[in-house]
Parts: sequence; C-alpha cells; structure tokens
Amino acid sequence: MSIRIEDLVYRYPNGALALDRVSVTIEPGERVAIVGSNGAGKSTFARHLIGITRPTSGSVWLDDWNTADHSVAELARKVGYVFQNPDDQLHARSVAAEVRFGPRNLGFSPERTAELTAWAMEATGLTQLATAHPHHLSLGDRKRVTLASVLAMDSAVVVLDEPTTGQDHKSVETIGRLISELSTGGKTVFAITHDMDFCAENFDRVLVMAEGRIRVDMPTDDWLRADQDFDRYGLQLPQITRLAHGLGWPESVATVGRFMERLPGHTGATPPDS
Ligand SMILES: Nc1ncnc2c1ncn2[C@@H]1O[C@H](COP(=O)(O)OP(=O)(O)OP(=O)(O)O)[C@@H](O)[C@H]1O
Ligand SMILES: [Mg+2]
Repeated sequence: MSIRIEDLVYRYPNGALALDRVSVTIEPGERVAIVGSNGAGKSTFARHLIGITRPTSGSVWLDDWNTADHSVAELARKVGYVFQNPDDQLHARSVAAEVRFGPRNLGFSPERTAELTAWAMEATGLTQLATAHPHHLSLGDRKRVTLASVLAMDSAVVVLDEPTTGQDHKSVETIGRLISELSTGGKTVFAITHDMDFCAENFDRVLVMAEGRIRVDMPTDDWLRADQDFDRYGLQLPQITRLAHGLGWPESVATVGRFMERLPGHTGATPPDS
C-alpha cells in the first residue's frame, strides 16, 4: 500500500503547531525510520496514519483512500500502530486475549485469529507469557505485547513508535528481524526511534523531523555517510560509525556487518551478533 501525505498541518487545541506542511510519499514494502529530537512531531505524524489524530489541514492518503473519509476502525484494517506508551494500548486481562483482540475485532475467522495470535506471540517471544496479565509484566514485555497485538492484525502498514523501548539486546535483534520479514512480505514498516544503531541496521530510508517538518529524507546509508547536522537534530551517529571515524577510516561505515567486512584480514565469515 502506498502512503501519500500532502501538506499536512496539525495544531493541538492549545495552539502548539506540531506538524508544519509535511509532504512525503512512501511506497509498499519500504522500511522507513523517523528520527529527531523530543517534541519534533514524530508521534503526532504517526498518529495521523491511523486516524487517531486528524489533520488541521492537508491530507493523508492510503492508496486511493483519503483518511478523512474513513473511521479509525476502517483504517485499522490497513494500518497497525504500536503506541509509544504501551499502557495507552493495553486493556485485556491476559497476553493472549490482548493479542487475539485485534484479529477477532476485524472479523477474521476463529481459525485465522488463532493462527495469527499464535504466530504473533511466537514471533515476539511471548508464548510462555500467554496467560500472564499484561499489567504484571515489565515495560519491555508490555511493549512486545502491544507489538504482537498489532502484528496479529496482519495490516499492510505497520507503524512502531519507539519499538526498542525497554528491550534487551536479544529482543532488539528479534524486532529487527521481524521488520525485515514484514518488509520482504510487502508490508510497509515505519518506526520512530531514538536508537541510531537500530536505525542504521534495519531501515533503508530515514526521515529526520525537527520542529514539525521533515528536514531530511534520504537512504539511511547516504544520510549517515553525509555525516552532518546530527547534533542539531539531537542525534548521535551509530556507535560503529563513530568507532570507524575514531580509527581514522576514510570511508563511513554504518553497520557492524560492514565494519567487519572492511577489517583488514576479513575472512568473509559472518560476525557474531550482527
Ligand atoms: N496533547 C498535546 N497537547 C499539546 N501539545 C502537544 C500534545 N502532544 C504533543 N504536543 C506538542 O507537539 C509537539 C510534537 O510532539 P510529539 O509528541 O509528536 O513529538 P515526538 O517527536 O514524538 O517527541 P518524543 O521523541 O518526545 O516522543 C511538541 O511540541 C509537543 O509538546
Ligand atoms: Mg513521540
């Protein structure tokens, strides 16, 4: 599904201008990271994709649907949104019930609902916690429950607001792999993130937001290579890029895999944990 945002402006009722003439087009299967400092407008932008925030002016198109003409329930068939704060999303008494809610609510058959629920819990490492009460889980586990509940809805677009919040190293890798699988399967994945290592490893394209506008829209590698204005946007280069710079390498390197390839004497073996 392609997404077209045209001249999107959003002003909160208190007058704060959160989005200022944002225009961008995203093609099916793209993996797009949205980065930028606190208050840049990232979450406000993302909430427009699912219609829980509506444009003050401008428009959001999902293929030939203008979101203004559709309810949140209709939009939920096309776009899944994992909230920044999991507690804004969780409502059921068990992990399995939470994950099952979405596909059941969309009217999927009991078999398809069971299949998607089992898959989403497995993919996010929650199978063992199926009967646990979401509110008794850690922040990281609660965040993965919300991720699973969106995955189970099998929507064409998946929007993840800070997916690595509270996640340990292994879970961050699992989420990265999932994002890759979703995009290979033709789904469009957006993730808002402050984690530049995660951004470099998992996203082809980056949108940098500041003061309600998209200031940069580039392939992630090119942007990291251009290596400018990071401080201005409240960002820091990925650790591996800073290490390569510190070693005086002439070429910029964004991922651990590429760093290993460029090491003198590299044998072609896959580096551990990358
Ligand atoms: N409910 C609200 N009422 C008024 N202003 C708001 C509200 N929510 C956000 N804002 C303002 O809108 C702007 C954009 O906020 P938003 O939450 O979209 O930023 P963000 O990029 O997601 O930040 P963060 O990285 O902290 O999550 C900020 O100036 C913020 O103060
Ligand atoms: Mg936010």
